[in-house]
Amino acid sequence: MAILVKNIKQLVQAEPKSIKFRAGKEMQNLPVIDNAYLLTEGDKIKEFGKMEDFNPDILKKIKEPIEEIDATGKFVFPSFCDSHTHIVYAGSREVEYIDKIKGLSYEEIFKRGGGILNSAKRLHETSEEELYDQAWQRLEEMASFGTGACEIKSGYGLTTEDELKMLRVIRKLKENSPLTIKANFLGAHAVPLLYKDDPDGYVDLIINEMIPMVAAEELADFVDVFCDKGFFTVEQTERILMQGIKYGLRPKIHANEMACSGGIQVGVKYNALSVDHLEYTGDEEIKALYKSETMPTVLPGAAFFLGMQCAPIRKMIEGGLPVALASDFNPGSCPSGNMQLVFAMGSVMYKMLPEETVNATTINTAYAMDVWRELGTITKGKIANFFITKPMDTLYYMNYAFGSNKVEQIFLNGKRH
Ligand code: NIG
Ligand code: FE
Repeated sequence: MAILVKNIKQLVQAEPKSIKFRAGKEMQNLPVIDNAYLLTEGDKIKEFGKMEDFNPDILKKIKEPIEEIDATGKFVFPSFCDSHTHIVYAGSREVEYIDKIKGLSYEEIFKRGGGILNSAKRLHETSEEELYDQAWQRLEEMASFGTGACEIKSGYGLTTEDELKMLRVIRKLKENSPLTIKANFLGAHAVPLLYKDDPDGYVDLIINEMIPMVAAEELADFVDVFCDKGFFTVEQTERILMQGIKYGLRPKIHANEMACSGGIQVGVKYNALSVDHLEYTGDEEIKALYKSETMPTVLPGAAFFLGMQCAPIRKMIEGGLPVALASDFNPGSCPSGNMQLVFAMGSVMYKMLPEETVNATTINTAYAMDVWRELGTITKGKIANFFITKPMDTLYYMNYAFGSNKVEQIFLNGKRH
């Protein structure tokens, strides 16, 4: 079924040519078309433009039935790309959250066997089918808030067997979900208890056993390391990244959430697709990222939930960097995958302008999960993943009305979802 959306109040991120990302001052540039139409055929965007330029002859060339939608008073956005999630996990961790309210830090909870280790224990006890069902529900909830693509990490296995189990669940989600999904191998999420006194031994296991097996089954697109104080060192990170690259996995890094850990620099050195979190980012880090191929990615939900200091996004943009915003949906530091909330947090917590938040959650995150060629903008030939909003006066309502769902109709691969 082809889709023709007419009388769109504003078609957002309508970009004639495919671009990689927007950086620095450019992040304030957001191409929009007032009173627009959008036509899809099959799973792709066929045409778009101003209503006054709409020529009905184009419909004669469409070889499938056409559904017409009147979007008077409504906006059309390309679906959000969420380039950082951990949605394959077993159960939730709200009991630990109470300890957090009472004053324990994320690191303290981890040190006593909670946090990631708690999730690893539960994941071990949960079947692949059950994990799949839980993750599927999370994906559907993300889609309901406007997400059309996401990256999903392993990292709650921490044994070869359980990491492979997680990645197989992700593969099944890839096969069955209409969302575009990328898989990221994060064996280096935490040192499991068994290796408590021998962290390098665990790194050896990742390098010698896990990465080759993950690659042999083609289970991952990327390799990730939690390179931060209390987790993995720069040296350990380098060893893992080198092996990942050898096996065709492009790095994405968790960096500088707890301290100036060197994670950003090591990410840039190994041409990581993104470095994520970045609460501790100074001039040196900004300099390292400038003109690199690495997308600085901030996770406002995690900073909000853990009450952390905010990454210096304004400084980063002023320094000429691109910035992406993703959810970090996970049971410990951000139990939400609502990208509309992330979008609004960009303005509330980081003083980003609405245009910047659109770029940060669409094309810049598309780059950070390597799907910028097919997603992230409304461009001819790209995958038809978009949503129609409820009636709104201006685009700015998306940033302003932070608690409500402004998405009214969702289309993924050209099909109503
Ligand atoms: O991105 N920072 C490291 N890992 C996750 C948290 C995972 C967890 O606590 O379960 C994050 O915030
Ligand atoms: Fe994360």
